[in-house]
Amino acid sequence: MSTQSELQATVDAMVQPGKGLLAADESGPTIAKRFKTIGLDSTEENHRRYRTMLLSTPGLGAFISGVILYEETLGQKADNGTPLPELAASAGIVPGIKVDLGKTALALAPGDEITEGLDGLAARLDGYKKQGARFAKWRAVYNITATLPSAFAMEANAHALARYAAICQQAGIVPIVEPEVLMDGAHTIERCAQVTAEVLHEVFGALHRHRVTLEHMLLKPNMVLSGTDSKPVAATAAVAAHTVQVLKRAVPAAVPGIVFLSGGQTPEEATLNLDAMNRLGPLPWGLTFSYGRALQEPPLTAWKGKDENVEAAQQALLKRAQLNSEASLGKYQVSMEK
Ligand code: 13P
Repeated sequence: MSTQSELQATVDAMVQPGKGLLAADESGPTIAKRFKTIGLDSTEENHRRYRTMLLSTPGLGAFISGVILYEETLGQKADNGTPLPELAASAGIVPGIKVDLGKTALALAPGDEITEGLDGLAARLDGYKKQGARFAKWRAVYNITATLPSAFAMEANAHALARYAAICQQAGIVPIVEPEVLMDGAHTIERCAQVTAEVLHEVFGALHRHRVTLEHMLLKPNMVLSGTDSKPVAATAAVAAHTVQVLKRAVPAAVPGIVFLSGGQTPEEATLNLDAMNRLGPLPWGLTFSYGRALQEPPLTAWKGKDENVEAAQQALLKRAQLNSEASLGKYQVSMEK
């Protein structure tokens, strides 16, 4: 298979009406933070048990077309010896891998951050591919204040995202390009819209200069929201209108799918907002979810690290996935939460 047809086949498997992605790629420190909420030690074995539980949820493939894994998970096995990427693939869920090495302060730009991990990326991708990964994810992070992010930070992060995406496509791996404008702060929804638009324009300019094929990538953006400390909180209708307007202005129609991060919204909020946006259609791209916390909070809380809770946890995940599936079609109703 040529690299182009390989990329296209992966995109086709990932972008399906009524389906979205499960982000289960928490790094060591992040999964430790999540496990702390249920009083569980963050050991490799507990990571394996937890992620095996998620991926072996019966019927998950009806609503989830891809899963983003962490490097450690790629090499782990279920109790019966099946490698976890294979477990996902056998359920019709394309396995992918988070490849960035996390964020750090951007030099000479106080308050701005940059994501690292480009050096040696091509060689790492070869290894991940042998372990079953067909797509990748790289997250850039932008803080909002009255003056941040700086134009310099937007340019530097766009450059890194585009370099990453080009390296992935050359390796036959579909890149998920994730520029996340954080919710933290007291800013208005209008300010979030302004920053998100500038970030996206910079990212798509860089993707073009780096020769990235837009048809063979997915965008994972934040929703346009008011800051977590802002009052009043922007309503669902405003979130949907601002987000869709920004995306229509900044994201070329050649991009097959936009898959949102949840970013700290509650599971219900993330579902409701996605639904409201899809009701504003028709839209030029698929608009669906790639949630971490908003999909995992209910199963994590139900599981509590105990084998006897596996079934209840899987039901909680399946339910959240199904509700988000409805939202990706603009067919969710709050009454379905019961
Ligand atoms: P959240 O949905 O929890 O924001 O995580 C998505 C993700 O992949 C962040 O990189």
